[in-house]
Amino acid sequence: MAERKASRTAVLVCQGRAVADGRLAVGRFADPVAIELLTAAEQEPVGRVRSGVRPKPFGERMEYELLTGTTEVLVVRTVAIDDAVRERGNPQLVILGAGLDARAWRMAELAEVDVFEVDQPASQQEKRERLGERTALAASVRFVPVDFARDSLGAALAEAGHDETRPTTWIWEGVVPYLTPEQVEATVEMVGKHSAPGSRLILTYPVPSRVYSIGRKTVQVLLNLAGRNNPMAGEPNRSSWPPERMRKLLGARGFDVTTDVDQLSIARGLDLAIERDSFLASSRVTVADRQ
Ligand SMILES: C[S@@+](CC[C@H](N)C(=O)[O-])C[C@H]1O[C@@H](n2cnc3c(N)ncnc32)[C@H](O)[C@@H]1O
Repeated sequence: MAERKASRTAVLVCQGRAVADGRLAVGRFADPVAIELLTAAEQEPVGRVRSGVRPKPFGERMEYELLTGTTEVLVVRTVAIDDAVRERGNPQLVILGAGLDARAWRMAELAEVDVFEVDQPASQQEKRERLGERTALAASVRFVPVDFARDSLGAALAEAGHDETRPTTWIWEGVVPYLTPEQVEATVEMVGKHSAPGSRLILTYPVPSRVYSIGRKTVQVLLNLAGRNNPMAGEPNRSSWPPERMRKLLGARGFDVTTDVDQLSIARGLDLAIERDSFLASSRVTVADRQ
């Protein structure tokens, strides 16, 4: 299999958090590290969306709309996931498909927590370069390069010092759509095998939605037509899950679903003025626990 390139969707969602920081859901959402993980060129569209002025040129306008929609999703899912991490307070946190997730560098609540960042090697290498010498707030951060499509996650985690006899919180944010159903099932099985009682799995996943897939394709066609960078080009959507099927999959691996909520409902609870309902309505945040 050809070596994958560093994820561009990871940059897009980081830009979304940078747009939102200090502007949306203030008091519930904050990610001051996100902007610092972006290059100068990547910060430009962030600045445009933060200004609130919709650009007139077609290409810039397309980028602006994509980033505005991404920002809404990111605020909602970040708040829900951060709450679920704090509530459980487990001593180990494994972030699956971590991308430019800055939790280990921004959440003071992780001061006693050992964090394991799992991601495909090219994405992880690029993150490490972006981080430079930045000091984490977490007790420790270990980088675990793994491609879910070909590597053994269990072996790599054990080698990195993950202790399967202690409870772990697992975050799997914005990754499920990029994996095949078989890769999702294999990953849940592995998570189940390495989870002590008290462990928690927090994941986001898309439900099947024609509106969402047509919308996603349309944005990509428009970006291409405008000659703009399409961050989704190398990362096609590979799976979506009806909630009942996801519940069964998790249940079969020893995780009982505690909450499973669509992101539009979470957005309403945060009093966010949402411009794109359908995207949020077709994405869910699930918190599942092992007794
Ligand atoms: C949209 S980004 C989300 C990043 C991060 N979880 C966040 O929300 O900021 C998708 C992430 O999934 C990772 N990913 C996708 N397919 C993967 C695979 N087969 N193995 C490991 N990581 C993968 C990418 O490297 C990327 O970091």
